[in-house]
Amino acid sequence: MTVSTPGSAARALSPARAVRGIVRVPGDKSISHRAALFNALGDGQASITNFSPGADCASTLNCLRDLGVDIERNGDRVSVRGSCLRGLREPSDVLDCGNSGTSMRLLSGALAGSGVFAVLSGDGSLRRRPMARVVEPLRQAGARIDGREGGRLPPLVIFPVARLRGIEHRPRVASAQVKSALLLAALFAEADTTVVEPALTRDHTERLLRAMGAELEISELAITLRPVERLRCVDVEVPGDFSSAAFWLTLGVLHPAAEIRIQNVGLNPTRTGFLTILQRMGANVELQSERDVAGEPVADLVAWSSKLRATTVGADLVPLAIDEIPLVALLGLFADGETVVSGAGELGAKESDRLAVVAEGLSALGGQVEATADGWRITPSHLEGGRVDSANDHRMAMLFALAGVLGKGAEIAGAESVSISYPSFWADLERLTTPDS
Ligand code: S3P
Repeated sequence: MTVSTPGSAARALSPARAVRGIVRVPGDKSISHRAALFNALGDGQASITNFSPGADCASTLNCLRDLGVDIERNGDRVSVRGSCLRGLREPSDVLDCGNSGTSMRLLSGALAGSGVFAVLSGDGSLRRRPMARVVEPLRQAGARIDGREGGRLPPLVIFPVARLRGIEHRPRVASAQVKSALLLAALFAEADTTVVEPALTRDHTERLLRAMGAELEISELAITLRPVERLRCVDVEVPGDFSSAAFWLTLGVLHPAAEIRIQNVGLNPTRTGFLTILQRMGANVELQSERDVAGEPVADLVAWSSKLRATTVGADLVPLAIDEIPLVALLGLFADGETVVSGAGELGAKESDRLAVVAEGLSALGGQVEATADGWRITPSHLEGGRVDSANDHRMAMLFALAGVLGKGAEIAGAESVSISYPSFWADLERLTTPDS
């Protein structure tokens, strides 16, 4: 059942009697951004299949086109003719990164030494997101980059420089976007660059740059990149997005009459902290047909109704499950004791302040979720119906949709935001919750 309210796209959901079916999630957002951007800097031509249909990855493609890159798109197939490392063209207008932090931060790194003048901006959410984490180390490498409030906030402006210096940088936050921005800038440096992460984060950048011929030395949390003259374009078959699959895993284990099979999901070990959390909680989830696709592990996942134990999630697991942590708050409402999440302060700097939005939204639906400085305390409770605001954050809209289906319904404001990463989410939800479809 769907309703619209004037002014904002809202969606009303009813409780589901059963949840069954097979679903294929969209191509991975992180890998799609990288496949397009890195190949744009390469020599040759690349074909990317199962490219994410989300608006975020379309933002990256549009920015690259504005930088003179020849890109053709036919559904989920994208072909990129590489412009070579120093072949980007100065854009004639502001590069619009939309809602996408990955586009803005990775492009900042790629453009810092590319010799073009560029301005990067985006929507209201993106213009509130912290940029000092990339601006400061890029300046240290010799980039001329600035932004609002001295470079803390977008828009960002990048001026051409002759060459960058190699640096050693130890980011304070564990962020794959920061690491990737610095490794991309390092391609243009005159000496080696080393990034030492405070904790392991997703490594799609390292995998793809290596496949394209970059020289990377990786030792635990330290990654060193040697500057190169050229990158080789490579075809990429993008696996299904684990972060999208996580919603169906959650629905499958929480609904009392459920069996959901999710096909072709990327299971890069730097992304699957959420599977560890599910296992700790006693969830009934199985990996089937495990295989390797284009250098990334892939499998089908099956989730069944489960009885969950409460758990604690701390800073060690957060970077490996950064986009899935909000789902732990929902899982905790159905577990057999108090679930505590800590070390997740970074959630405050996402598309919305997810620490606050999760607590407010789930509480509005009757859940007992108390926000702490860097996480939540979650007490088992019954979800009642209600109206919730997704803050136009795609992952919050999808979280509240599950809460509606599992409880007594929900009306979600900002429901259209799912198009950022998962445009067919509502259709897939309807199919999975309509018995015998
Ligand atoms: C991403 C890294 C993460 C994640 C985001 C995608 C990436 O952000 O939350 O959705 O593709 O590198 P941070 O690096 O800011 O943690």
